[in-house]
Amino acid sequence: MLSLLQEQRRIQGILASMVDAVLVVDTHARISLANKAAENLFLVREGALEGKRLDEIDGDQEVSGMICHVLTTGKEVFTETTINPSTQIFRVHVVPIKDPDGMVEAAVAVFHDVTDARNFDQMRSGFVANVSHELRTPLTSIKGFVETLLDGAMENSDTCRRFLSIIETETERLTRLIDDLLSLSSLESNDRNIHLKPVCLARSMRSIMNIMGPQISDKHLHVEFIYPQSIPRILADEDLLGQVLINLLDNAIKYTPVEGKIFIRCRQRDSRLIIYFTDTGLGIPRDSIPRVFERFYRVDKARSRNQGGTGLGLAIVKHIVESHGGEVFVDSEVGKGSTFGASFLSV
Ligand SMILES: Nc1ncnc2c1ncn2[C@@H]1O[C@H](COP(=O)(O)OP(=O)(O)OP(=O)(O)O)[C@@H](O)[C@H]1O
Ligand SMILES: [Mg+2]
Repeated sequence: MLSLLQEQRRIQGILASMVDAVLVVDTHARISLANKAAENLFLVREGALEGKRLDEIDGDQEVSGMICHVLTTGKEVFTETTINPSTQIFRVHVVPIKDPDGMVEAAVAVFHDVTDARNFDQMRSGFVANVSHELRTPLTSIKGFVETLLDGAMENSDTCRRFLSIIETETERLTRLIDDLLSLSSLESNDRNIHLKPVCLARSMRSIMNIMGPQISDKHLHVEFIYPQSIPRILADEDLLGQVLINLLDNAIKYTPVEGKIFIRCRQRDSRLIIYFTDTGLGIPRDSIPRVFERFYRVDKARSRNQGGTGLGLAIVKHIVESHGGEVFVDSEVGKGSTFGASFLSV
């Protein structure tokens, strides 16, 4: 048999180890027991809660109201709320403790932090709203042109051809959007196995420059690739690395006016190899810089959309680079140009 003292010590040990804040409140609305997490939540020093009246610690009185309700009705309650001064969201559960005759002796309130879960819910619904909007835009345009064609525009073969080619472009955008979303989701859910092997960054970069050759010459851009003679190989998944390089070069091309310059440089720093893309393009306003790696973020939505952009390119780049243990960074000045960089572990 445990003595009363042993039992108390055991309860205190359990309460102290709990992540959730716990308050026990007597029928006079005084706190008779509080754990460490509760002291942290109400920002008070050790032992300062016991003996206090509830209304002394609870600024907006929401929780004290709930606890008093439980003390008078004997029925448990749940709610979700923020506790001043913390900005976290708590799920609060208050239960009555009754004596053998069923009279309420005290109430126990448990505060469970659900901030992360709620933030995640918010992020997810924001993401769904973004995706729906991005899908709706090309679909609205396709629907409009199809209707106009059916209304008679089909009779004129020039108009018909022009409208069909717009429909084709919009369909391509939809396909690209869905491909990008799938690739981001498979990267995030880790079901895309990353096949790391030593890769020559210079070789990958040269082959991407070949692929982008037509876009480069269409805009009469000067693209230069500068790298040291002996360059260590990096540990990477070749396909994913290709996606990083193509997205960064594609942006440099897209956001640099005709006859501009793009310099691609490789540098070794300690155990890392860093690749920089510097362009003489539009640049990015200071307050947009921290946001460019967010999904769907575009400095100029109309311009990016005109160029067929989905706003997912840099989100994909960041994800891939970080899943390789590297980092992405950007530096930019409006009117002068931008430098985007990505680091990789060298072998
Ligand atoms: N080199 C750059 N110069 C100026 N702005 C850039 C540059 N790279 C990216 N940006 C800005 O960052 C935004 C996000 O880039 P991101 O690559 O994610 O999307 P996108 O290029 O618009 O579309 P996508 O890459 O999906 O086709 C762009 O819309 C653009 O405003
Ligand atoms: Mg892009």
